[in-house]
Amino acid sequence: MLLKYFSKNKGVKMNNCIIETKALTKKFNSLIAVNNVSIKVNKGEIFGILGPNGAGKTTLISMLITMKKPSSGEAVVDGFDIRKNPDDVRKSIGIVFQDPSLDEELTAFENLEMHAALYGITKKEREKRIKEVIHVVELDERLTDLVKTYSGGMRRRLEIARGLIHRPKILFLDEPTLGLDPQTRKRIWDYIRKLKKENNTTIILTTHYMDEADSLCDRIAIIDHGNIIILDNNENLKNSIGGDVISIKIAEPKKLREKIENAQLKWIKGMEEYNDELKIRVEMGERRIPKIIEIAKNNNWEIESVNLHKPTLDDVFFHYTGKDIREENGSVKDLIRIRRKAWGKGR
Ligand SMILES: Nc1ncnc2c1ncn2[C@@H]1O[C@H](COP(=O)(O)OP(=O)(O)OP(=O)(O)O)[C@@H](O)[C@H]1O
Ligand SMILES: [Mg+2]
Repeated sequence: MLLKYFSKNKGVKMNNCIIETKALTKKFNSLIAVNNVSIKVNKGEIFGILGPNGAGKTTLISMLITMKKPSSGEAVVDGFDIRKNPDDVRKSIGIVFQDPSLDEELTAFENLEMHAALYGITKKEREKRIKEVIHVVELDERLTDLVKTYSGGMRRRLEIARGLIHRPKILFLDEPTLGLDPQTRKRIWDYIRKLKKENNTTIILTTHYMDEADSLCDRIAIIDHGNIIILDNNENLKNSIGGDVISIKIAEPKKLREKIENAQLKWIKGMEEYNDELKIRVEMGERRIPKIIEIAKNNNWEIESVNLHKPTLDDVFFHYTGKDIREENGSVKDLIRIRRKAWGKGR
């Protein structure tokens, strides 16, 4: 429980907070999907919510965008209480949902036009803004094509354009690049950076891609089983676990860990094992590898591979949850969703 409050609001500047939650909680019968989440988000920051499948990312933002009522706790978005002033909250935000929500029997123009009309934007202004947002995502040439003729990546870009049409102060992106190819993912990252830089848009982004969070986000909240495990900027998160990481693949990581513990080596800062891997955190990793290999050799254990690196977000997640986020994400649900999205059949 203590970890939950560790460095929770580090990095929040006074009077610059655009979202604040206090003990926000959502229960589905006995399941606590979001548990006592208290966070603050700065104006103009890219704030990442990183966690495996089922961690509570979508549920957390569903409450902030007023689509789900909290079971308890509070949240203020752009100065408006999500319970008391949901209509005002909605005017301040743009949303790109995790699951596709475009009408594929309409053209891109018609999708954008319909959305803009819902926000009460005048016809003349609508045309201007459609041109503007379609240009941001570089789909000008395809504006009058039916969405069903779009690729998965193009649909995602169009959804981002749609989320921008009413010029929201805050843009919520739920898994914006799920299932997209690396090139399209990078392009979407570029649009997100552009929005921050040129419009000072605050962006709340959920993801279970470590590289996405690492590359884009000013601060990252790591969430697991509905709890915020830790929240900070990438550098501090990595520094928080300290040292270098030696990853050893070996059939019996538990036994190797015990032998290393028994050796009482002063330079060992911590160890975690999972499946066939032992992660050892040390100072000056390159000097320590021979000793680790020696211990394994003396016990006739064969090491499959050794890897030395500075801590990554994977290591951070592993350290604070005892789990590997990549393993956590291999669910059938995820694969089905990725395929549907990539093939443009999602609905
Ligand atoms: N409407 C619902 N009824 C019951 N349980 C739900 C509902 N919505 C979500 N849950 C449960 O709440 C938990 C959190 O789900 P959520 O969709 O927020 O996770 P997530 O982090 O967005 O996962 P993913 O990466 O798969 O999108 C899961 O255990 C999920 O099954
Ligand atoms: Mg989700």
